[in-house]
This record gives sequence, C-alpha cells and structure tokens, in this order.
Amino acid sequence: MTHASSRISGVRSVALSVPDLQATSDFFTKTWGLELVESRQGIQYFKGTGSDAYLISLRQSSGEAQLIDVTLRARSLKAIQEIQDHLGSNGKVLTPTSPLNEPGGGVACTIMDNVGRIYKIVFDDQVSQGSPDHKDRPIRLAHVVLNSNEIAVTQKFFEDVFDFSLSDRTKIMAFMRCNNDHHSIAFGDTDNNALNHIAFLVPNLDAVMSGGGRLKDAGFPIAWGPGRHGPGNNTFNYFVGPHSIVVEYTSEVEQIDDNYKARFPSDWTWPPGRIDQWGISPMPDQSLKDAQKKVFFTQP
Ligand SMILES: [Fe+2]
Repeated sequence: MTHASSRISGVRSVALSVPDLQATSDFFTKTWGLELVESRQGIQYFKGTGSDAYLISLRQSSGEAQLIDVTLRARSLKAIQEIQDHLGSNGKVLTPTSPLNEPGGGVACTIMDNVGRIYKIVFDDQVSQGSPDHKDRPIRLAHVVLNSNEIAVTQKFFEDVFDFSLSDRTKIMAFMRCNNDHHSIAFGDTDNNALNHIAFLVPNLDAVMSGGGRLKDAGFPIAWGPGRHGPGNNTFNYFVGPHSIVVEYTSEVEQIDDNYKARFPSDWTWPPGRIDQWGISPMPDQSLKDAQKKVFFTQP
C-alpha cells in the first residue's frame, strides 16, 4: 500500500462556532455519541472512541453557526513547510507554525485559500489508545465535504498544496484521498462555498442503523438514508444537527491504494429512482439540502 499524500495523513477535526453552545454541546455528547474532553478558554473539545485528541470543537458565535477551520494532520514538520511553500498565489498563511494550546497539543499553521476556506495543519499532536469498548459511537472523522462553486480550482488546490489525489468524480462531487480511505475530503458542485457535511466513522453498519434510531428518538430524523454510496462504497445516514450543521454516520469506507483508477460522471450513474446501491434510500430531504447552504467559513 502506498500513501496518496506525502504531506497529509488524514482529516483530524473540525472547529465550529455556534449561537447556542449548550444545545450543540448536548447534541454532540448525549445524542451523537462524542465525549466532552474539556473546556479551555471558552472552547469545548469533543472526542470519539478512537485515538484522536478531539474531533469537534465548539465555541460561542455572535450570529449564525460558522466553520472556523478544517484541521488536517501533517505527516511531518517538513510537510507543513512544504504546504506553505506550495501556496503561491492560491492562498495565504493566517497563522505561522506555532505550538497549540489545546487537547493533543502539537504545532500547527493555519492557511486560507482564495475563497476563504480555512485549514489548520497540525503535526505531532498526541494520540491515545482510544476506547474501542463503545460499539456504536463515532471512532474518528471519516471525511468532510465542502461545497465549491469552482471545483476544478478547489481540486487543484488540494492536489498542489496538500498532495491529495482524485479518487472519483461524479456529476456533483469530487472525492479526494490522502491515505487508504477512498476519500477524506470531497467537494460538492454548487453555487456556494458552504459546509456540506461532516462524516463520522462508526464501527459497522449496525452502528449506522442504531445511530439512526438514537437520533430519531432525540428529534433528529434521518434526512438522507439509510443507504450505501456509490463512490467509497460506504454506508450512510445523514442528519441535520443544531444550527444546520449536517452530520453523517458512515461505515465500511472502501480502502484503496494508488492502483485505484478514478472514474468519472459517465461511469457513476444510478438507475431511475435510485440514489444508493441497495435501492432503498429515499431522495435527500429538502431540510438537508437547505442546511447544506447555511454554514460558512468565518471571516478571519
Ligand atoms: Fe459523506
């Protein structure tokens, strides 16, 4: 197995700001299945059952929910420098490489592309053994999907700056990888640059399904699913969380290597009326489509 990216080993976490911190915190702990690690300087950090120090951070916003950054883990300190060196005119460094005062620590730099997407690149953050005894809770992030009104530009940014590779391109999405997961980041073709969704890896299909029940009981019905995607072959259930933050439970993400041959829109088609491999999922709910246009990156 070879690694697709020489610079990034995975998507580690997502930082958000929300108008109702308590309700969102309650959602991610009591309903979604994360654990509050600690509050530090007004920021709450939530971990999964895997090895990452945290997967989501939340802080108070003054208005709408916003995306503070998507945090990627670098393979080395040198990789962080290479990322900055390859930015060129396609973005800028917001924060130079410096130590982090947060769970896991390590060092990070923060960069922004030309349309305002913000990425934190962390290295040397502490990882733990994890707690695999929780059978139906999120382990780690599986992927983050961002909308793009210029997918070719966004894709090239990820290839040039982060050394990601295209795994598949459908009519509406570009799936990109940095490790053996079929995708860690994907871009959705739209007229905006909002957050599309954050996907959490759970142990198996049973956890995707029982998670659907837990969310339904808590007043968050399935907005799309259950089903099995085409590209990535992963199972899914999608929900609209507090403040239009769209979250996905997924499992069984296809593991690939650099021998994988990307397929394109003419290869990825569904028979009429279908939108997943099993043929059981209804079309995405309008509430999901609406929510996927509402959470934007903060303006630094
Ligand atoms: Fe997804």
